[in-house]
Amino acid sequence: MRTQVVVIGGGPSGLLLSQLLHVHGIDSIVLERKTKDYVLGRIRAGVLEQGFVNLMEKAGVADRLHAEGFEHDGTLIAFDDDCFRIDFNAQTGTPVVIYGQTEVTRDLYEAREAAGGTLIFNTEDVTIHDADTDHPFVTYSVDGQEQRIDADFVAGCDGFHGVSRQAIPLSVRREYEKVYPFGWLGILSETPPVHDELIYSSSRRGFALCSMRNENLSRYYIQCSLSDSPDDWTDSAFWAELKRRIPKTFADHLVTGPSIEKSIAPLRSFVTEPMQWGRLFLCGDAAHIVPPTGAKGLNTASSDVYYLHNALRDYYDHGSRDGIDAYSQNALTRIWKAERFSWWFSSLMHRFPDQSEFDLKIQRAEIDFLRTNTAAQKAMAENYVGLPY
Ligand code: FAD
Ligand code: DHB
Repeated sequence: MRTQVVVIGGGPSGLLLSQLLHVHGIDSIVLERKTKDYVLGRIRAGVLEQGFVNLMEKAGVADRLHAEGFEHDGTLIAFDDDCFRIDFNAQTGTPVVIYGQTEVTRDLYEAREAAGGTLIFNTEDVTIHDADTDHPFVTYSVDGQEQRIDADFVAGCDGFHGVSRQAIPLSVRREYEKVYPFGWLGILSETPPVHDELIYSSSRRGFALCSMRNENLSRYYIQCSLSDSPDDWTDSAFWAELKRRIPKTFADHLVTGPSIEKSIAPLRSFVTEPMQWGRLFLCGDAAHIVPPTGAKGLNTASSDVYYLHNALRDYYDHGSRDGIDAYSQNALTRIWKAERFSWWFSSLMHRFPDQSEFDLKIQRAEIDFLRTNTAAQKAMAENYVGLPY
């Protein structure tokens, strides 16, 4: 087979890139290791920046997002029983949109299928060849049959555990990493959200987050030990712990119910540099990970896709290599700012095992500064709603 761009990974990065390339008349083939149902069953992000929404519009897949997504003009920050609001609208004039990653992925799959795009599932042994030449190709097998696709470019959109990053030789690649000493236990439940905006709560017992998908679907997270497994937490133990970690006014009104999903995610900051090697480009979690506190994972994937699809369009439309040569630099400049924000917000809101009384006082002072200082609120809001690209 031959195509212009082979996209490895059928998660949000790969699908959005493939759909945007299609809008610009550029052909691609998407290779996905799992089945479509498996990808759609992964419950992950819920907060979209305006930049992500703009790209979905450009890709022609924003109708349902506009109809069913919820604009949020602010968020609550709690510290024990104190609570204050960061007003995104007043500070930036820009809201965020609550719309699940599952729905984003579903809309993108529908659009790719409606356009007759080639999506190949259950691929095994995906291998990138000759990425440092002008004739890269990718081999893989399905049902034991080996296949080969020749292409102009390869986009590595295969997440943190994918193969694309590993295809860049260690002599070229440098990785930066910070692992946090806790995880997030998340549940999804068919209950009304405890509040109409998100609540990020720092308590003596650890961090908690109250989020949502719609009026009758809530998403809650609590900071947990890395050694915990979801099976260690019954639903009632989860609800009891959540109530202890959010201000009493909300705990008293929390509607509980059976969980329909329960999972633990470790927290990590990670960046690989460069994000390109020859004709291979990395996008999204394949190149970087943030701790989820700032809701930046999916949103950083979208800025990569923005830079890469523009670069490829310039290459095919005008024969210009400027965009593709500058891709890694352009993407990383924004990524590191999102890494900084996610690290800062995570450090501010969690309890760390080795935290001293002094550290706690400093954390409390910083939250109080954020509560009382409009410049600090503006900086937080600008980062949360998304830096420009
Ligand atoms: P993935 O979603 O990981 O997709 C990669 C795809 O590649 C997968 O489908 C995988 O099966 C496939 N693949 C892997 N290896 C291969 C291979 N060898 N060959 C072929 N295919 C392969 N982000 C936000 O912006 N906001 C949030 O609110 C938010 N909340 C989160 C909450 C949780 C609990 C978690 C875990 C993450 C959250 N994130 C959030 C992060 C966000 O989900 C990720 O950043 C996002 O999924 C990245 O998309 P991606 O397409 O780059 O990678
Ligand atoms: C959600 C996840 C996050 O990491 C976050 O910061 C906000 C919301 C969510 O899944 O709804």
